[in-house]
Amino acid sequence: MVAFYGTIFMLVVLGHKTEGQFLDLKNMTVRDTFLSGTLPDGFLWGTATAAFQIEGGWDSGEKGPSIWDWFSHLPGNVPWGDVAADSYHKYKEDVQMHVDTGLNSYRFSISWPRLFPDGTNTTINQYGVDYYNNLINELKNNGIEPLVTLYHWDLPQKLKDRYGGWVNDTMVELFENYARFCFATFGDRVKYWATFNEPWSFVAALGDFNHDPDYSMRYKMAHNVIRAHARAWHTYDDDFRSSQNGSVGIVISSMWGEPADLHNPADRQAATNYMEFFFGWFANPIIGNGDYPDVMKRMVRESRLKQNQTVSPLPEFTEEEKLYNSGSTDFLGINTYTARIISATNETQTCHPDGHNFASACGFMPDLMGVKESVGPGWFYMGSNIFWFAPWNIRGILHFVRERYNYTKPFYLSEVGIGETYKYHSPPNLNDTWRMCFYMTYANEALKAVKLDGVDLRGFYAWTLLDNVEWGSGPDQAFGLYHTNFTHPSRQRTPKRSQGLYRTIAQENGFPENANHVWMTQEWLEWCHMEEAYAPTRPDYVEPTSGARPTQPAPKPPVSTARTGQSLMTTGILGVLVVLVAICSP
Ligand code: BGC
Repeated sequence: MVAFYGTIFMLVVLGHKTEGQFLDLKNMTVRDTFLSGTLPDGFLWGTATAAFQIEGGWDSGEKGPSIWDWFSHLPGNVPWGDVAADSYHKYKEDVQMHVDTGLNSYRFSISWPRLFPDGTNTTINQYGVDYYNNLINELKNNGIEPLVTLYHWDLPQKLKDRYGGWVNDTMVELFENYARFCFATFGDRVKYWATFNEPWSFVAALGDFNHDPDYSMRYKMAHNVIRAHARAWHTYDDDFRSSQNGSVGIVISSMWGEPADLHNPADRQAATNYMEFFFGWFANPIIGNGDYPDVMKRMVRESRLKQNQTVSPLPEFTEEEKLYNSGSTDFLGINTYTARIISATNETQTCHPDGHNFASACGFMPDLMGVKESVGPGWFYMGSNIFWFAPWNIRGILHFVRERYNYTKPFYLSEVGIGETYKYHSPPNLNDTWRMCFYMTYANEALKAVKLDGVDLRGFYAWTLLDNVEWGSGPDQAFGLYHTNFTHPSRQRTPKRSQGLYRTIAQENGFPENANHVWMTQEWLEWCHMEEAYAPTRPDYVEPTSGARPTQPAPKPPVSTARTGQSLMTTGILGVLVVLVAICSP
């Protein structure tokens, strides 16, 4: 009852200000206020992983190579994915770790070349089928709901060699065959499917390791990915839904673009355009009118005309395709780690090595115009110069998506997490108070999205279960609730302190009034809103004593806005992708 009136108080007194699709979070006291309460019954609490990042067994059991196996075996690279966290052999431990953390769901991905070594259904690898059957059965036997991603970036290398990958229209049918096989084989037990993980990342940022100097190929890749998604959803809808009764969605990533001045229409428009290029590129065809956002069609055309290109490289959907795309999802998975401040500008932006404007100015959205991207004052560095502390981005993005696209289906926060650079913390510090702060504040924002904004949010997945292979960075970027010992052949796993806090949040289904947990208080929230809390995630951080971290909130020091200027090239997955793109260029 007290919680109920508390919520009403928050809404009425502290205010729920909006400017159309934008929440006025900067001016809401509630942004920095701890909220008590629980998530809806049946809420899914889990972790998320990806096959390449944890499985290993890269050529075991007749698996075919993926493009990431190819990349990691290039001269000069370390093939960390060969063994990774060895989940191919240790899947039972992975499941047990979920049990120990009190979780009721696990989002993992299937490696396409483990099932179809050459990418096509002409050769089905029974060892691969057995592996995923065993994993799924182990989960179900422990009461853990699988959410299975069909594609988390590990394209079969054979499809790259033969067709060039996603740039080729044939991929749509090949993906349909793969998805159909997965639905038919595992769909009696798997009720949640995500077709793709973060198309923006593997298309815009990575381009599947293709050399694509004028970006045209990426528009084409995205086109086929969207068509493949729609095809897989319709396949399920037509042939499996009535017997299996599951749901099929897609996982889209985006930072939240917060207008610098909410009351300035030009800033609002710039922030909307930023979101349309980042998020709407993939979302508008699927949850909107079936087509690319209008602003994207216009800006790509105009920006190419300026370069004397008379034909826009953005492909067009036919009217039939638009109808087929629109509504082709049962839920939206959103991966969101951070936010950016967006203002309108007439000046051309140049890519800055501090990572603040990486999405708009470093070649990933080359036709987006009139946008200045930065991080807010007082935002803190969180393990990578891509990720800055801004937990309110959760409310910002969920509200934006719902309002902008009139979206009424369920949301899942399919990845939320914080990493640190391990090589600077050797031996590893398991007392990861920064990750406790991260999950406390981000999960509390998820609660606010439900309670204060009325968002239909059904699940929260921590990125990630255990330290893994962070793509091109190898194991140096650690995001796990469990530490993985990469120097040990059996890849021992040890819980970090954050695992205990995440377990409490999951078991309590949020932050109930009577939780009686020291971390579920306004005092801790304030501590977790300070730069000091995240300092250990900086590569230049030096432990003051023998690894001691606070167990009590420290007396509140003045909030400092100083940041370290890490090179974009050294940290973070998206920073890594910059490196990869550079490597692929001649
Ligand atoms: C990806 C993960 C990655 C994580 C942290 C997400 O973009 O889906 O595979 O490890 O970010 O960089």
